[in-house]
Amino acid sequence: MTAAVHQSATTRAGNGQAGPGAVPRDWDSGLARRARNLGAGEITAILSLAGASDVITFAGGFPDPATFPTGVLRDIAARLITEDPGVALQYSATEGIASVRDYVSGRLSSVQGRAPGSGELMITSGGIDCLELVARSYVDAGDVVVVEAPTYLGAIMAFRGHEADVRGVPVDGDGLRVDVLASRLAAGLRPKVLYTIPDFQNPTGLTMSAQRRLELIALARRYGFLIVEDVAYRDLGFEHEPPPSLWSAAPDVVLQAGTFSKIFAPGLRLGWAAGPAQIVSQLAVAKQNSDQCSGALGQRMLEEYGRSGHMERQIVASRALYARRAELTSDALAAHMPEGTTWTTPEGGFYIWLTAPDGVDTVALSAAARARKVAYVPGRPFYPHADGTTQVRIAYSRVADDLIDEGIRRIGEVFATAGKDGPQR
Ligand SMILES: Cc1ncc(COP(=O)(O)O)c(C=O)c1O
Repeated sequence: MTAAVHQSATTRAGNGQAGPGAVPRDWDSGLARRARNLGAGEITAILSLAGASDVITFAGGFPDPATFPTGVLRDIAARLITEDPGVALQYSATEGIASVRDYVSGRLSSVQGRAPGSGELMITSGGIDCLELVARSYVDAGDVVVVEAPTYLGAIMAFRGHEADVRGVPVDGDGLRVDVLASRLAAGLRPKVLYTIPDFQNPTGLTMSAQRRLELIALARRYGFLIVEDVAYRDLGFEHEPPPSLWSAAPDVVLQAGTFSKIFAPGLRLGWAAGPAQIVSQLAVAKQNSDQCSGALGQRMLEEYGRSGHMERQIVASRALYARRAELTSDALAAHMPEGTTWTTPEGGFYIWLTAPDGVDTVALSAAARARKVAYVPGRPFYPHADGTTQVRIAYSRVADDLIDEGIRRIGEVFATAGKDGPQR
């Protein structure tokens, strides 16, 4: 122990350079078991392109900065810092500032038709914070967590980070195959948690039908598992609202994880958890052991921005922006993809899910795509098991209108060349 402490001090003093006599240490050998095999390496490499200015990137699920209300926020922030520093610059209650919870509760009532009861709502540091708190509070090593296959990579990582046994159930055009889940439950599968993104899902863009939502709720009640409903894209339907949220229909068995990242600004790291009071209070205990509370300044900015009506006005504009991008992307795919390629048609959100012809390995080809200055996320990491080799997630949300066609043309070229040359393994 003394040696390790001594060595890290030497390393720090040397500004990253080991001092004389120091033996380079393999810090990975001491990794906690739960931190091993999280499988994020390939994705980290691809997402690192997000900031590259000469790459057309369909990679990260980023909102377009044009949707950030900079002028309004500058005024709100200046006012809060001048007039209310005792709240805005202070720690907040772990569950969130009371007036902010009141605002979010009112918003849920107006957009989802249900207001959380006493103790049923807390503010989180984005959607991922909620998932981490759920995993930390409810998942023991080996517990089964069912997810859609494919699903949001961050969720797989959050559950795996607590050594869950993550199992995938396939999706189709109506969302999660609840019939497949039902047969697995009948055959003895006993999940503790089922995680779903029912609206304009990441990564497929697909939405769960109203009928399947009811069937899923019935299964949760029958088999006693918790549904974690991630509504990250729910407010971003292009023309239609999705069916009623699972939480609004079944607050007894659903915990809703919400985020303001896609409709406000991810830089403020804000979201919510709404569900049974017993669960929400447990998440608050877990949050006391992590970041203790979400940033008060951001919370108050959200409240002021929302209460003055700006949020709902911006959401209308954002829907139109993303609907246009989705259409441009679909048109470009139709023009440039090799024969045999299929893709989803989203009715909201940020993503199109593409399946390339057999023999195309989208992980292997991401290097060729990078060389052509275009980026996507290959399908494989969105599955909890080995799958998705020929698939790709296309995030159109942050690609400028006039670059979409060119970017998709480059991806089409990469896939077409691979198809001709045979499997790229
Ligand atoms: C389905 C889903 N849930 C949660 C998140 C995380 O969002 P946040 O920035 O709120 O942590 C994302 C971000 O991409 C997402 O796609």
